[in-house]
Amino acid sequence: MNMRIVTFNRKIIFAGLLACLVIAIIWTMYRPVKHGNIDHSRYTIYERFENRKTNLPKRFSAATNAQGIVATVLVIACNRPEVERCLDRLLRFRPSEKKFPIVVSQDCGHEETAKVIASYGDKVMYVRHPDVSDINVPGGADNLKGYYKLSRHYRWALSRVFDVLHQDTVIIVEDDLEIAPDFFEYFEATKTLLDKDPTVWCVSAWNDNGKTGRVRGNDLLYRTDFFPGLGWMLKKSLWEELAPKWPAAFWDDWMRHPEQRRDRACIRPEIPRVVTFGRIGVSRGQFFDEHLKYIKLNDEFYPFTEKNLTYLMKDVYDAAFINTVYKSPLVSFEYFHSGQVMPAPSVRVQYESEETFRSLANQLEIMNDFKAGVPRMAYRGVVSFMYKNLRVYLTPPRNWSGYEYPE
Ligand SMILES: *[C@@H]1O[C@H](CO)[C@@H](O)[C@H](O)[C@H]1NC(C)=O
Ligand SMILES: *[C@@H]1O[C@H](CO)[C@@H](O)[C@H](O)[C@H]1NC(C)=O
Repeated sequence: MNMRIVTFNRKIIFAGLLACLVIAIIWTMYRPVKHGNIDHSRYTIYERFENRKTNLPKRFSAATNAQGIVATVLVIACNRPEVERCLDRLLRFRPSEKKFPIVVSQDCGHEETAKVIASYGDKVMYVRHPDVSDINVPGGADNLKGYYKLSRHYRWALSRVFDVLHQDTVIIVEDDLEIAPDFFEYFEATKTLLDKDPTVWCVSAWNDNGKTGRVRGNDLLYRTDFFPGLGWMLKKSLWEELAPKWPAAFWDDWMRHPEQRRDRACIRPEIPRVVTFGRIGVSRGQFFDEHLKYIKLNDEFYPFTEKNLTYLMKDVYDAAFINTVYKSPLVSFEYFHSGQVMPAPSVRVQYESEETFRSLANQLEIMNDFKAGVPRMAYRGVVSFMYKNLRVYLTPPRNWSGYEYPE
């Protein structure tokens, strides 16, 4: 009996030693690999960041260590404590910290705003633009100073996230934007398009014509030749292309120029996934009361990631879009008030020049301006919207051969 127990114990001890040996061997094999590997640099992405004062949250660096980042959200803040409204909704609707780390970049050195941002602690990474010096605007046009500072801040902040934090995909959100419940869902689903289609250079959450009555269907997405900005996603490759020539001011109009855009399109939704709540802003003040406050924010979640969005790739989209548009019966503006009903799901109204576009746009209650030759929200000259509960395409003639760029 005793002998048996002793033998049994020996066996256990032997098995235990063997297990320890195996574990030790595995450990020594894997340890150097782990240290010499890219994993290590991922760990220190945020630790390398110069601004040591921002007490780097462990959770944040752990998040960036993982492979699962979809995009880093870059919030551009200045002197608006209402950035709270923006951040609250970002945090409320964010599906996971791991997929969408948030960086808040503050310019302007405004203390009250700084306190608000700091109060979020380790939920966001807070960085401050070190250069808040005054800018001498060429020609002494001091009323334009805000545009110069904004452009300088954008350059700095984008360089932080791409060049210093080594992020691959970034969603830019300004401090006066409020996001829709499916904001993250939308960007997560469309990221593939940005990755795979070289003719797509951005994904935007905005539609300039996104007012109640002008839109229908939160599932609808489009390509647009117009750069919408306002809650938009870009990749590092685009930043590397634009950074060396980044302009001193008016960066968004600059992006719309043919030399920057180079015939590339953005993806945009029918119903906006952001709205601006700010009346005070560099450029939006005059524009807010008459236009921006009527823009509709999508309120019903749409599961984009479960859908097949391949139809937005240029090689699939163009032929189908042009076909849908030009097979719609051609009507004049009078049609909408004639009581006539076309047996078609959509109609087409035609413009021949910038002048006729403006006049029809005014009648149909959509934005009437062009930037760098492109009507707002147009794709191949076509603007899609709702009017009198009907899908309307405002189109150039069928033989349209491209935008006419002004000098
Ligand atoms: C997705 O859509 C594309 C084009 O619209 C189609 O060719 C493809 O077969 C679809 N994929 C799936 C999995 O349904
Ligand atoms: C398009 O067709 C119209 C006539 O239908 C013609 O006047 C115009 O010059 C054509 N434009 C182009 C770019 O071919």
